[in-house]
Amino acid sequence: MRQTEFSFVLLTWFDTCQRNLPWRSTKTPYFIWLSEVILQQTQVSQGTPYFLKFQSKYPTVFDLAAADEQDVLKTWEGLGYYSRARNLHKTAIEVAHNHNGIFPNTAVALQKLPGIGPYTASAIASICYDESIAAVDGNAYRVLSRFFGIDLAINQSEGIKYFKLLAQDLVPFERAGDYNQAVMEFGALVCTPKAPQCSSCPINEKCVALRSNSVSSLPFKIKKSAIKKRYFNYLLPLDATHHTRLKKRTGNGIWRHLYEFPLIESNELLGYQALSKSVKENTDFDRFNDLILINIDPIVHKLTHQHIFANFWIVHLDQLEDDFVHFSEVDQYPMPQLIVTFLKNFRNQIK
Ligand code: ADE
Repeated sequence: MRQTEFSFVLLTWFDTCQRNLPWRSTKTPYFIWLSEVILQQTQVSQGTPYFLKFQSKYPTVFDLAAADEQDVLKTWEGLGYYSRARNLHKTAIEVAHNHNGIFPNTAVALQKLPGIGPYTASAIASICYDESIAAVDGNAYRVLSRFFGIDLAINQSEGIKYFKLLAQDLVPFERAGDYNQAVMEFGALVCTPKAPQCSSCPINEKCVALRSNSVSSLPFKIKKSAIKKRYFNYLLPLDATHHTRLKKRTGNGIWRHLYEFPLIESNELLGYQALSKSVKENTDFDRFNDLILINIDPIVHKLTHQHIFANFWIVHLDQLEDDFVHFSEVDQYPMPQLIVTFLKNFRNQIK
């Protein structure tokens, strides 16, 4: 199949089969950027309500720039990978203050903004400004590796370079934005990771992977190092007037600037004896009245490179001396999904 034919067939398919998604009726760079950042590592079904929430809460880049970071993180809550939300806010500030609210109009210039990598920059430049540049995301890797039968690893530099050149060769000079979205949409609806719709696929006759029975093994990825296991013993201090404590995470690790209960991290989850000792030695809750494990089984939270096993313990105290917040107010703070889920279950438990 000639390259122009490949893009023509996908564009024709897109014209009739694309989903009606809220960011497809606009070319406003602010909204396209918002949708693309939300949809990095997030499925359309999960991301759409967040897109609508951000759009109505912050209708322009100036509104988003003027918001508190804490507010932005709260609106983001549940989407995970919070560095995306922090970069979203930083970029809004940069565009509002240094670019008069206008997003740069080339992929090269867009990539200078926080959180905008080659994929997002190409998506914005092609959709909003008609730049003829390929946006290579996971969908594109899947569609191209299968259709052209390429088994180079998509997480190694040789493969990445190869796919980038191939993808760029395929982009039409006109309707580049629609073409990029056609590839994404095709990867989301037809050439799916599991159970692809090969029998009704409009390009199945020339699909190399289908002919060679290798659809399920493409795209190829080299397995990366093992996942790290971490053990979090959360302390939920509660005093006689229902005050507790939240701490803001600092440093550069996961959940930076999000709030959580005081935490003792250990090499394995601690039992009552070991935890009491650690609470006495390492916290100002040393005069606690009681220590009660709330969850029966550890809560498991899986991130890309680490699995977190968490227990939550109530630490009953007479009075929290400082740095306290009323338990009924903790939801106002942006928190990691692990804590949000725990609180929801905990509230159901004590109802
Ligand atoms: N995933 C990332 N960007 C997308 C878009 N514009 N449409 C559908 N899925 C997407």
